[in-house]
Amino acid sequence: MCYSLRMNISTTIANSILIFDSGIGGISIVDEIVQRLPHSTLVYVADNKLYPYGTQTEEALVTRALTLFPALEARYCPAVIVIACNSASTIMLDEVRKITHIPVIGVVPAIKPAARHSKSGNIGLLATKGTISRQYTESLISQFASTLNMIKIGSDVLVSLAENKSRGLPVDMNILERELSPLLDAKNVDTVVLGCTHFPLISQEIHQLLGSHITLIDSGKAVARRTEEVLLTLAETNASQKNHDAEKAPHTFAFTACPPNIEQIKPFLRSRGFRQVHTINI
Ligand code: DGL
Repeated sequence: MCYSLRMNISTTIANSILIFDSGIGGISIVDEIVQRLPHSTLVYVADNKLYPYGTQTEEALVTRALTLFPALEARYCPAVIVIACNSASTIMLDEVRKITHIPVIGVVPAIKPAARHSKSGNIGLLATKGTISRQYTESLISQFASTLNMIKIGSDVLVSLAENKSRGLPVDMNILERELSPLLDAKNVDTVVLGCTHFPLISQEIHQLLGSHITLIDSGKAVARRTEEVLLTLAETNASQKNHDAEKAPHTFAFTACPPNIEQIKPFLRSRGFRQVHTINI
């Protein structure tokens, strides 16, 4: 994709990309989207009212989605919605698509690319307990990795380690080691899927324990590519319409509940260009 075409997307589409997660995990997706679409305007919504999603029932997540997404659509009028959360996407994608005409992009564990990449045939899947238990994840495994040996680790503790890191706290390597122990004990694993958007934020620490010979694979780049494709299609569809609002707006970050110690997280959000941080009551 050439640079001028990317510029064209941002100057043709006035509306923003809505990135959604339970917490700050979606920032790993933001990083990839910004790399691919540096001129886009982002609205990030962290549904910390229901955080962590990995421990919620499927029913609770779908019920929440049916209230949340119409409200977010009315408030922000995004051009596209990215559900930057595996725990959510693996259960609510179809439901959300049914209630909106805005394109919805999901994030699901990168099992297919990991299976293709692995030479040893031994791969790890790191995700939340919720994502590990989903039918959606099972069917990705049986479609793309049924002949491989997969070590699955469902960890909600890793999510809090990433949340802590975003607040400037050190990652507790003893806790991380305990969580990763099934992978540390396994033989010949060469590829590990980071099936939770929080985990790329602690990939350095994961690498430190597992060793640099292990390839960590997540869905970030693929999601950014898909977002660009969707925006291009929208730009083509709207090409004949005049757009007087094409000025790039600043990024916005919203929590659905006031987080404790909000000041601690602001430097992390500012480093990603989110200068406006507020709480919305949904
Ligand atoms: N970031 C979310 C994911 O990708 C999960 C975080 C949580 O459990 O709230 O699954």
